Amino acid sequence: MGVIARYREHLPVGPETPEVDLNEGSTPLVPSRNIAGALGLKRLFFKYEGLNPTGSFKDRGMVVAVAKALERGSRVFICASTGNTSASMAAYAARTGARAIVVVPSGEIALNKLSQALMYGAKVIALKGNFDTALETVRDLSTNYPVALMNSVNPNRIEGQKTAAFEIVDELGDAPDYLVLPVGNAGNITAYWKGFREYRAAGRATCLPRMVGAQAEGAAPIVQGHPVANPMTVASAIRIGNPASWEGATSARDESGGMIAAVTDTEILSAQIRLANTEGLFAEPASAAPLALLFRLVREGKIDKDATTVVVLTGSGLKDPDAALKNVQPPIELDGDARALAKVLKL
Ligand code: F0G
Repeated sequence: MGVIARYREHLPVGPETPEVDLNEGSTPLVPSRNIAGALGLKRLFFKYEGLNPTGSFKDRGMVVAVAKALERGSRVFICASTGNTSASMAAYAARTGARAIVVVPSGEIALNKLSQALMYGAKVIALKGNFDTALETVRDLSTNYPVALMNSVNPNRIEGQKTAAFEIVDELGDAPDYLVLPVGNAGNITAYWKGFREYRAAGRATCLPRMVGAQAEGAAPIVQGHPVANPMTVASAIRIGNPASWEGATSARDESGGMIAAVTDTEILSAQIRLANTEGLFAEPASAAPLALLFRLVREGKIDKDATTVVVLTGSGLKDPDAALKNVQPPIELDGDARALAKVLKL
């Protein structure tokens, strides 16, 4: 079952809305086995969004945005993307026979995200400049040409993405105390906050979480309080200097009593490896940013250790093999028999 079928009564869909799904959503909330203990946290969970059909949380919002665009009669979809949105949009366009145009910052997106968009049959334009330029360009294009804009400025994306908050509440029985997630274009933090508030208003939860957002230090406009002209970080998914949902993010932060803070690339990559090494969860660098922030908050004594914390792992580690391979030892090359192998392994 996809998110539209599972949460229909909370979504802007009706009898006229075409049925679209790839069985997205319903991702596991994985309890920490090792990191929680090491940090002295009572309850820590990972919402493993990398298990969505195209490997990121984007599928939740894309399925709703595509269904609504088809309902309106649109057959050409466009987005700017750091990679995951384009992969998701291309997949749902392929499934529904629509045309997909994706505009990505030239040379800046992870290899497997690009391969996904191309395999799903999208027309891919690698535009010179960064994500912010790409978004500005597609927004401009979509106001003058008959193409449906599928970035998270499309409110139907936010509607679909809020279902992740519903799932967490459904599984835990209430909202967690902290929800920690990466912030790039800021659609997702906006969507989670909307979801938690709506679910509480519907009587499905009694409390609201503190929303804790992580940006990368070289791409931290919200933390710095002004746009960043040349955002730089290894976490290419959140290499964004002027988030479209800026206000949604600051409202979520302020209304929830949370925070948005920046972590360094070194902290991100070490959190990514620790997550893979000690929990068996492989997430892309952007998804490791919130865990890096959690490590820091625990060090600084800024997290209540008896609380329930959920860290959102937004995308699969398989998306970005280059980032991962830079930080591990390469395989040992060997030409030999079992004895030679045993010797190399020091068995
Ligand atoms: N994590 C991953 C893996 C992402 O791909 C993104 C955004 C984010 C976090 C941040 O979410 O933008 O809602 O604050 N990726 C977009 C894209 C920008 O084009 O795929 P956000």
